[in-house]
Amino acid sequence: MRLSMIWVSAILGCAAFLAHAEGDPEKGQELAGLCAGCHGEDGNSQVPLFPKLAGQHPAYLTKQLMEFKSQKRAETTMTAMAEPLSVEDMRDLAAFYGRQKGHIETGDPHPLGQKLYNAGNAAAGIPACSGCHGPKGRGNPTAGFPSLSGQHAAYTEKALHHFKAGERQNDMNGMMRAIASKLGDSEMTELAEYISTLQ
Ligand code: HEC
Ligand code: HEC
Repeated sequence: MRLSMIWVSAILGCAAFLAHAEGDPEKGQELAGLCAGCHGEDGNSQVPLFPKLAGQHPAYLTKQLMEFKSQKRAETTMTAMAEPLSVEDMRDLAAFYGRQKGHIETGDPHPLGQKLYNAGNAAAGIPACSGCHGPKGRGNPTAGFPSLSGQHAAYTEKALHHFKAGERQNDMNGMMRAIASKLGDSEMTELAEYISTLQ
């Protein structure tokens, strides 16, 4: 075998391994039939309390499914849904949803939410959300910061309340619990409305 051929096969071998680690979106699409009733055919849910999954980072989605199953993120409905899934199923589902395009909501501008999102509030000890979730809300897959842009405001607001109350405890080092504990109700509403239109 020529040296270049060895390189080509080594590269193809790595690509196959990575594709597997990332999950198979076609298998994921078949499994996603189980989820469509709440999250929509392509992960753009119609019901504001059910989060959009479309366009979310696959590694974040897989983490959430594993943690619903282990009840590190305890939530009755999703724990029941994740219970029968293998890690491979979770990766396949995550690969499918990650490839879909998330719908961004339209609505009035939310200047207070926008300001808090981009600059935080130093006096109150609230960091800028954009520091981790990015100026466009696309997050950072390597760091485990989820995409927020276009998410239903009702779900985002609920998530912030859950972090604040400690009902959701699966955030690394309690990062989101520390931040949400400093947010008031109206700030959560403003942030959630702004995030739903962010792109
Ligand atoms: C009966 C409705 C219902 C069904 C069916 C359902 N889900 Fe969910 N899902 C929810 C709700 C409600 C939440 C929000 C839970 C919370 O408030 O913490 C959620 C949250 C999630 C999240 C977390 C999203 C995030 O942004 O953190 C993922 C991932 C998820 N579901 C995947 C799935 C998958 C995959 C399936 C199919 C195997 C599925 N769900 C089926 C209702 C449902
Ligand atoms: C230091 C980094 C950091 C900052 C700053 C930060 N977040 Fe987060 N956020 C995270 C991490 C990490 C998670 C994912 C936790 C997990 O793995 O479940 C997260 C998750 C979330 C979620 C849940 C998403 C979902 O789909 O369930 C919301 C909503 C959120 N953050 C909103 C905000 C808002 C609003 C701000 C600003 C007030 C903010 N975050 C600031 C790191 C951060």
